[in-house]
Amino acid sequence: MRNSFRAGALVALALVAAPALSASLNERLAPCLACHGEKGTSVMPEVPSLGGQPAPYMLVQLFAFREKQRLADPMNDLAQELTNDDLMVISEALAKLPPPVVSGKGADAAKIEKGRVAAQKHRCGFCHNPDMSGHDQIGRIAGQREDYLLKALREYKSGKRAGFDPAMLEVVRDMSDEDFVNVAHLLAHWN
Ligand code: HEC
Ligand code: HEC
Repeated sequence: MRNSFRAGALVALALVAAPALSASLNERLAPCLACHGEKGTSVMPEVPSLGGQPAPYMLVQLFAFREKQRLADPMNDLAQELTNDDLMVISEALAKLPPPVVSGKGADAAKIEKGRVAAQKHRCGFCHNPDMSGHDQIGRIAGQREDYLLKALREYKSGKRAGFDPAMLEVVRDMSDEDFVNVAHLLAHWN
């Protein structure tokens, strides 16, 4: 299923009539970026920054929102109208946003150190890249909003977020809520 979707997505990319779509692309992205941050850094509580996210990661997540495999307001409704071509074009465009700006404000050195130990133990960098920048269908987690990271980790653990790829369900199984708090703090202050 995942492979056929990827193949379909590649065909879609080849068929996209870029000039016709790009004329309205900025207009179409404006409402998205009003929430997610025009320059890739979100300032809205629990709304993820999209800057620096790999295009294939955003593509599968938008697909999962549309197919209601990932449930979250307001994304399920917003994704309803998007065709496969739209998903491709939008995720490619969003992937050009610069990585989120990390602020050192409120950084707690002890929490960061505990986060580092937990990240090492649970091998976050093995999948997300040592610099946590993500690749392919694995999201960027460096510099992400702390509240969103915490929400995502808790939702993998509770089962609310099944994951298009179930890898995270294994990862969070042996982690405590305190681990989540520390790791989210580390990643939000990543530099
Ligand atoms: C009203 C605010 C809002 C608007 C408008 C909005 N989003 Fe979102 N978006 C969210 C929230 C909140 C989440 C996180 C949902 C969750 O907690 O799982 C999200 C998640 C996402 C994700 C997944 C990010 C990740 O790290 O997994 C992508 C990709 C995304 N949105 C793209 C878009 C696109 C494209 C549009 C425009 C068509 C859009 N969003 C419009 C609020 C918004
Ligand atoms: C075995 C590979 C693997 C490991 C190890 C791993 N991840 Fe992930 N992670 C993934 C994949 C794949 C996804 C995308 C899952 C999905 O589709 O929801 C993901 C998604 C995430 C997300 C959601 C990102 C977003 O923007 O919504 C967070 C947060 C996250 N991982 C944090 C971590 C942390 C913290 C660790 C270490 C404690 C870790 N991951 C270890 C593979 C991994």
